Amino acid sequence: MPASALNVPTILFGGDYNPDQWPREVWDEDVRLMKEAGVNAVTVGVFAWSTLEPREGEFDFAWLDDVMDLMAKNNIGVILATPTASPPPWFTLSHPDGLPVTKDGVHYIHGSRDTYNPSAPSYRNAARIITRKLAERYAGHPALLMWHLHNEYGTISYGPHTDAEFRNWLIRKYSTLDNLNKVWNSRFWSQQYATWEEIFAPQATQYLPNPSAILDFKRFCADQLRVVLDDQIEIMREVSPNTPLTTNFMLPTWNHFNQWDFAADIDVVSIDHYLDSTTMDGEAHVAFASELARSFNNGQPWMVMEQGTTVIYDYAAGRVYPKAPGRMARNTLQYIAHGSNSSLFFQWRTPLTGAEFFHSGMIPHTGENTRAWREIVDLGHTLHQLAEVTNAPAHNSRTNTAKIAIVWEPDAWWSAETPAMPSNDVAFLPALREVHKALWLEGFAADFVQLGAPLEGYDLVLVPNFIAVSDAQAHNLTQFVRSGGHAAVWFFAGSTDENLNVRVGDTFTAAFADLLGIKVDEHWPLPTGEFRELSNQMSGFSWGESVATTTAITLATYRSADLKDKPAITRNTFGAGTATYVSTQIRGTELRALMREIVLNAGIDKTHPQAGDGLEIVRRFSGEHTYLFVLNHTDSSHTVSASGYELLTDTPITSQITVAPFGYAVLREDTPTR
Ligand code: GLA
Repeated sequence: MPASALNVPTILFGGDYNPDQWPREVWDEDVRLMKEAGVNAVTVGVFAWSTLEPREGEFDFAWLDDVMDLMAKNNIGVILATPTASPPPWFTLSHPDGLPVTKDGVHYIHGSRDTYNPSAPSYRNAARIITRKLAERYAGHPALLMWHLHNEYGTISYGPHTDAEFRNWLIRKYSTLDNLNKVWNSRFWSQQYATWEEIFAPQATQYLPNPSAILDFKRFCADQLRVVLDDQIEIMREVSPNTPLTTNFMLPTWNHFNQWDFAADIDVVSIDHYLDSTTMDGEAHVAFASELARSFNNGQPWMVMEQGTTVIYDYAAGRVYPKAPGRMARNTLQYIAHGSNSSLFFQWRTPLTGAEFFHSGMIPHTGENTRAWREIVDLGHTLHQLAEVTNAPAHNSRTNTAKIAIVWEPDAWWSAETPAMPSNDVAFLPALREVHKALWLEGFAADFVQLGAPLEGYDLVLVPNFIAVSDAQAHNLTQFVRSGGHAAVWFFAGSTDENLNVRVGDTFTAAFADLLGIKVDEHWPLPTGEFRELSNQMSGFSWGESVATTTAITLATYRSADLKDKPAITRNTFGAGTATYVSTQIRGTELRALMREIVLNAGIDKTHPQAGDGLEIVRRFSGEHTYLFVLNHTDSSHTVSASGYELLTDTPITSQITVAPFGYAVLREDTPTR
C-alpha cells in the first residue's frame, strides 16, 4: 500500500524523548516544560533496547508503562519506537554471528549503534521478539499515536549470512549462472562462476571489483533492509492494526535503501533532516528534502521526525555552527509549507554525557532561561496558530502546481557510485541538488519521480544523472515526450542498460537516440576545475562529449579547440514535445539561466510571480482552502501581492503583505476572517 496522509488535527510538535536516560524526578519537570511549550507528541524508546530487555528474554516494561501513562494523562501522544537499531551488549555475546562485518572483514561489536547484520537470522529473530512484545503491550494504549519502526535503516554488512542471502537474491534475479556470468561479463579478470557458492558479497579485493556485481550488491542490501522492515510491519499489522506505521528516512545523504519501496510499505513517510549550511544553501536544502519527502509520500502530508534546534551540522567538516535566532522557526515553516504535518526534533533534552552530548536539544544544557528554550516556546505557539493547515495536503502534487518532476532513482545513485566510472564528477546527489537549487532560486516547485512511474500530469521531466537506464524506463520517457511532455537529459545518461552493460550502437545515448535526436560517439571527461567555454557565454565543467545532431537543433556549441563547434546543448522536437540534452556540467548562475530557459520553454509558471532569489512562496491546498506561505530567506523586506487572512498576526490582507527580513507569513487565501 503506498504511503498515505498523516491525518492529525494539529501539527505534531515535540521530539525524541528519552526519559529512561534521566532520573525519575526529571520527568515531572519534563511534563511541566512540555506543557509550557505546547508539546503534543514525543518519540520514545528509539534506543532503549538494553533497558527494555536487559538480559536476553527478560523484559522490563515498568518504566515504559509509567512513561506511557504519564503522557496519556497529560494529553501528549507517543510515537513509540521499536529499539532495533541498537542491539544490547548481551546480543554480542549470545549472537556474535548477528553483528556486522565490514567490507574489510572487521567484526564490529556494540559500543556505538547500528551493530547488527540484517541478513543474520539471529538478529531478525531478536528484533521480531522485542517488536512483538512492544506491540502486544502497548497496542491500543491511549497515548499511542504511531509506531516508529527502527531508526534510520541503513546498515550494510558482509560476512557468511550476507553471502548466503546475496546468493539467494542472485538466484532469484538470474535463475542460472550462465545468465549471471553473461550480465556481469565475469570472464573479465577470470571471474567466471561455476557454482553459486563461489560468489561472495563483494568485500575488499586487490583492485577494481566488478561494477555490475557491486550494483547488484547495493540493490540486494536495500532489499534486505526492506525485509527486516517488513518483519516489523507484519507484526504490527497483526497485533496493532489501527496505529499508523512510519520509519524515519535520513535525508538526503543516506542511500542504503530504496525510498520508494519503503514508502510503499509504511503508512507515512517521515524524514530526519539537519540544516547543513550557514548560508541560504541551507534553505535550498530544506526545500530539496521537503519536496523529496512529499514526493515519496504521494503528495500527502508527511512528517519531520528529526531536525536540530540551535545548531547546524556540518558533518563533512566535523563541526557544528550556531543557528541564527529565528532560523529554526523559519525552517520549520518551510517544511510545513511543503506538506509536513509535524515539527519534531532530535531531541527533547540535551544529554549531559554520552555520544552526541553536544548535539542540540529542545531543552539545552543551560536550561530554561535561554534563547533556545524561548524559541521553542514561541515555535509551539506559532504551530498552534497553524493547526488548520494540517487538513491541506502538500501544495504541489501534480494535481496542483508542480509541473516539473526530477528523476530520483536509487539505482542512478548506486550506479554513479560503482567503481571504474570515467570521472568522479559523475555524481548523483550533487547533480540533483544543483538542479533543484537552481529551480528553487528561480521560484519554481518540483516533485521527484521514478523514471518508470506514470509521468502524465507533469509538463517537464528532468534527468540530471542517470547512467543505468532500462529499456522500459527509456521507453517511458520517450512516450512522455511523444505525447506532448518536455524533458531535459544530462550527459552520460543511458550510456548503459540497468546492469551497467554499455549499450551496443553508434551512440552513447542509444537509450534515448530517437528522443534526443543526437549521436554521442565519445565522452570527454575534464580534469577537476577545468571548463570549456560555450557559444552561449556559459562554461561547461567536469565533462564534455563529442555530440553530433541528427534531428535536434543546437542551442550552444563548444568553443574550445578540442571540441570546437560541436553541439554542447541541443533540443529535439519529438512527437508533440521537446527533449533538451545538456552534454556538460553547467553550474551556479549559469545553471539558473539554463533552467529558466528550459522551464519557460515548457510553459511553466513560478509558484508566485514574485517567488525566487530566496523569497519562497508556496501553497498548500485543502478541499476548502488554499494556504499561501511566504518565507523570506533574505536580509531585506519584501512586499508580496496576496490577499486573505494572515494566521500568525490575525490580520485580514486585502492586496499585499510586507514580510520582514528573515520573516514569514501564512495566509488562508480565500477568506478575509479567522
Ligand atoms: C540521526 C539519529 C539520531 C541522532 C541524530 C543526531 O538523525 O536518528 O539518533 O543521532 O541523527 O544528529
